[in-house]
Amino acid sequence: MSENNSIKPHGGVLVNRITQADPTGLFSITITEDLANDVENIADGIFSPLEGFLGQQDFESVVSRGRLANDLAWTIPIVLDVDEETASKMKEAGDVLLKNPQGTGVAILHVEETFTFDKEKTAQGVYGTTDSSHPGVAKTMSMKDILVGGKIDYIQRPEDSEIRKNRLTPLQTREAFAQAGWKTICAFQTRNPPHVAHEMLQKTSITTRDGVFVNPIIGKKKSGDFVDEVIIKCYETMIKLYYPENRCKLGTLHTEMKYAGPKEAIHHAIMRQNYGCTHIIIGRDHAGVGKFYDPFAAQKIFDDYPELEIAPVFFPAFFYCRRCLTYTTPKACPCDDDEKEQISGTKLREMIQNGQAPSKFILRPEVAKVILDHPKPFVD
Ligand code: ADX
Repeated sequence: MSENNSIKPHGGVLVNRITQADPTGLFSITITEDLANDVENIADGIFSPLEGFLGQQDFESVVSRGRLANDLAWTIPIVLDVDEETASKMKEAGDVLLKNPQGTGVAILHVEETFTFDKEKTAQGVYGTTDSSHPGVAKTMSMKDILVGGKIDYIQRPEDSEIRKNRLTPLQTREAFAQAGWKTICAFQTRNPPHVAHEMLQKTSITTRDGVFVNPIIGKKKSGDFVDEVIIKCYETMIKLYYPENRCKLGTLHTEMKYAGPKEAIHHAIMRQNYGCTHIIIGRDHAGVGKFYDPFAAQKIFDDYPELEIAPVFFPAFFYCRRCLTYTTPKACPCDDDEKEQISGTKLREMIQNGQAPSKFILRPEVAKVILDHPKPFVD
């Protein structure tokens, strides 16, 4: 790790579970693409200090109080769910080869325990609701009944592909930030292509900091969200045309979006600290869905985690004011509501789905073109 970047990984040590272990003869199971991504995230230290899937004590502690059993902040359970029969076979086997859907054996799981869990309690603890119209709740309720805890050893990455070309490990980001000479790095979490308010949040944040790490989430998303390919292409276009050299680094984070609002904001911050970022932008309705969370709940929750080393950078709602001729916020703009062009991912999706071309105050024309030219910009 670079000497230049002083922020420590969460828990103090960057986890590295990449090994050369030999899986020959091991009992194996096939896991989903998203779980395979999370195994790789554990191995690379993106989820530091986790070294594997949560055991029962940690799991229950994360759900009930947003901390690991040892008190370290952790808000989203990282777990492997299987049916009862598979769980007992895995327990008997001890070491289990985890295969991705393409059949590649990616990691060995050293099974420590198998346990049942209360799905409603889990949904309530993580998402703050048991309403099954919340995508995270629906996912929780459809999980298999047994969780398997234990450390992993990662043995084989998937083949290179277009979608993985921007994936970076914390070692790589820390090195890149050091190379760029950045000491203060603001992370930007997103699940959308960049609208102009996103760009302004990023640029405002780096006015007094060295650079921004734009880190879109790649992986399973809810129906109606933008597809990964569009998000990446839009960002490549925006950065090339609207950023000066050496101020913005793009890297993708391959994990499922949970839509857990405040709890996910803390998780997002921890992962970005592991990448070496000193700050993270938390704006309006961060990681929210529908009307499930207060638009600023994801900011307020940071009061419960004052010990986090990464510092949140909070923003109120950014909009474009036609009278002030600038992107601004309610704090700074005295104008009437009808002067204000509100900007959000939801509004953008609705406009494009209804065949309306978004104005240049919402979307850069070159970015709009990427979306409009794509045959299928939305998740089914
Ligand atoms: S998220 O689910 O990843 O949070 P999105 O990609 O829309 O969704 O947002 C990325 C970040 O920008 C989040 O921190 C969000 O709060 C913030 N954000 C998005 N739009 C606005 C806006 N108009 N004003 C303030 N913050 C915003």
